[in-house]
Amino acid sequence: MLVIALCKGRFLEPSLAALEKAGIRFPEDVATSRKLIFETEDKRFRAILVKPVDVATYVEYGAADVGIAGRDVIMESRADLLQPLDLNFGQVKIAIAGPKGSSSIDGSDHPTVRVATKYPRITLDYYNARGIPVEIIPLSGSIELAPLIGLADRIVDLVETGRTLKENGLEVVEVIAESTARLLVNRAGYQTKRDEVLQLITSLEKVVQCGSST
Ligand code: PRP
Repeated sequence: MLVIALCKGRFLEPSLAALEKAGIRFPEDVATSRKLIFETEDKRFRAILVKPVDVATYVEYGAADVGIAGRDVIMESRADLLQPLDLNFGQVKIAIAGPKGSSSIDGSDHPTVRVATKYPRITLDYYNARGIPVEIIPLSGSIELAPLIGLADRIVDLVETGRTLKENGLEVVEVIAESTARLLVNRAGYQTKRDEVLQLITSLEKVVQCGSST
């Protein structure tokens, strides 16, 4: 049996759709149920539902053999995993943003730029690599609020449509990385369950190829 860690929330439906197209169907309605563990009828696959930030942890520790999560949370986790496939959904940018008219990533009158984010490691790496002193203000949501009320000079957050930034008078200053959904594989599981994992990768590869050609 292969254990697949899936994100609760907005990634769940496209993840289930990709799995279904790959022939992996769960008999229950995973998206509306409150259960956290589901199995296919043939017992070849078990899905577990976890928070997006936790998918990499479950896979790294082998509690799940594979997982589906965004590149953003994988980068932030720094987990030691294999990422054999870009699933090509959930496209977002990880970006530095500031009040409209901001032109630089170090937009502060102070020697240290204050950056609010739920991606402290990505942010720290980015600013450290440029030699810009940074103070990270860790938040877990509504990040766009921080510069509006003087809590931070900049934010590092996901930008999908750009609507949240626009409606709060903010704009992208610099894009740090592009992110999409990735298939993650536990390193040991890639050896011990090689045939099952390779079969899953091949099936999902076909789904991605079909999706990009239509
Ligand atoms: C995410 C992200 C941005 C927003 C971007 O927030 O953190 O706030 O979506 O989307 P947009 O560019 O299409 O406007 P989410 O909805 O996950 O809520 P959060 O504020 O709790 O992080």
